[in-house]
Amino acid sequence: MLPCILLVLLSCFILFSTEDLVAVALTSPQDISALKAFKASVKPSSIPPWSCLASWDFTTDPCAFPRRTHFTCGITCSPDSTRITQLTLDPASYSGQLTPLISQLTGLTILDLADNSFYGPIPSSISSLVNLQTLTLRSNSFSGAVPNSITNLKSLQSLDFSHNYLSGYLPETMDSMSSLRRLDLSYNKLTGPLPKLPYSLLELALKANSLSGSLSKSSFDRLTQLEVVELSENSFTGTLEPWFFLLPALQQVDLSNNSLARVEISKPSNANSDLVAVDLGFNKIEGNAPLQFADYPLLSSLSLRYNRLRGTIPLEYGRKKSLRRLFLDGNFLIGKPPPAFFASDKSVSGSLGDNCLQACPGSFQLCIPSQKPSSVCKQAYGGKPREKSLNAAALFWYGVAESAVACRWSGGQLECGGSFVLASDIFCLSSCPKSKHDIPTADSIWCSSENSSPSTTRL
Ligand SMILES: *[C@@H]1O[C@H](CO)[C@@H](O)[C@H](O)[C@H]1NC(C)=O
Repeated sequence: MLPCILLVLLSCFILFSTEDLVAVALTSPQDISALKAFKASVKPSSIPPWSCLASWDFTTDPCAFPRRTHFTCGITCSPDSTRITQLTLDPASYSGQLTPLISQLTGLTILDLADNSFYGPIPSSISSLVNLQTLTLRSNSFSGAVPNSITNLKSLQSLDFSHNYLSGYLPETMDSMSSLRRLDLSYNKLTGPLPKLPYSLLELALKANSLSGSLSKSSFDRLTQLEVVELSENSFTGTLEPWFFLLPALQQVDLSNNSLARVEISKPSNANSDLVAVDLGFNKIEGNAPLQFADYPLLSSLSLRYNRLRGTIPLEYGRKKSLRRLFLDGNFLIGKPPPAFFASDKSVSGSLGDNCLQACPGSFQLCIPSQKPSSVCKQAYGGKPREKSLNAAALFWYGVAESAVACRWSGGQLECGGSFVLASDIFCLSSCPKSKHDIPTADSIWCSSENSSPSTTRL
């Protein structure tokens, strides 16, 4: 009898306590107060009735199940229903500041407020969210600086603050974010140089800011996993040095619309590189189109459009099988395009237009738009000669456009006349040089066939 009553009591107890579990608050008080503060800082008028935030009704426990009417979306709880692990809001045009009390949600692994209208500073207390793996504040109206404290987020793998109004410098100690794989701060108003970047990065996107300075090796040192570099529409200057394209995992590079002045490239080691696409358009790059791009086995898209390139188009570009898109328009390239581009089996798209090329007939899609007027080309090649040492295989272009005459340095002899296929250095001479000292450099003077008499001179 007694055991029987006990059994009933016990089962009652179990039953009630299970009901209790549902009825009483399970979510930690700290998380509840943070959620309340979070909702309270969103303007009520910006909370549509159908939205996630509208369903946040604190008369019930946020993590209590089932969540049919309350807390229907926006949060995820831990399996034991005590902690909020994800705060992923719907895009509903919520407007308000992000409360610093968000820092109490220390169980968060994902904080995603993308595509809303949050404004004001990103609270530096966000650095207390040490379990965060994903932090996405994309497409809001946050302003002020990227808080230096975020560099304390050692578990963070993805940071996306793109499309806001953030200003100031990037945190100097960014490299201490030792798990960061993806960084996107594009479309802000960030200034200053690139700091040292985290080694773990796969994807770096800082497009459309006002970042400046040169791309230094120290920023990219040991970034052995970096695949994507999106730094277009900034104010980067200086030389892109050979180490850059040798970053071992590099696949896609967009540095267009900056103010880079030079590009130096070396061949990939063991002809091994995953580089697929390079955009260096709309910079101030001088010199010749770098032939070493042809040594990157997978390169299929190359843009050097609207720079200040001179000389001929490397024949190597024509031979390169992997190349599908080539934009060299808007430079001062001379000579004849590699004949391979016009072979019927070649399917290269892009443009060689708006240069100083000969024999680029408008009937070819690649040759649109038309070449620069010869007066513009003549002026471009009208600079003062500078001294330069010669390499024995160099070929020299003697004039441009219709009246071009080539000079070739071959076996200690300089041969002028005829139409040579040009390799690298391009020169334009007023007359055939009599000695090494007469040979000008890339910024050479314009000449036409009238004042140049083809001849052969032994030097
Ligand atoms: C790049 O700069 C050129 C010339 O200033 C401009 O026409 C073009 O729209 C810019 N591209 C982007 C994506 O901003």
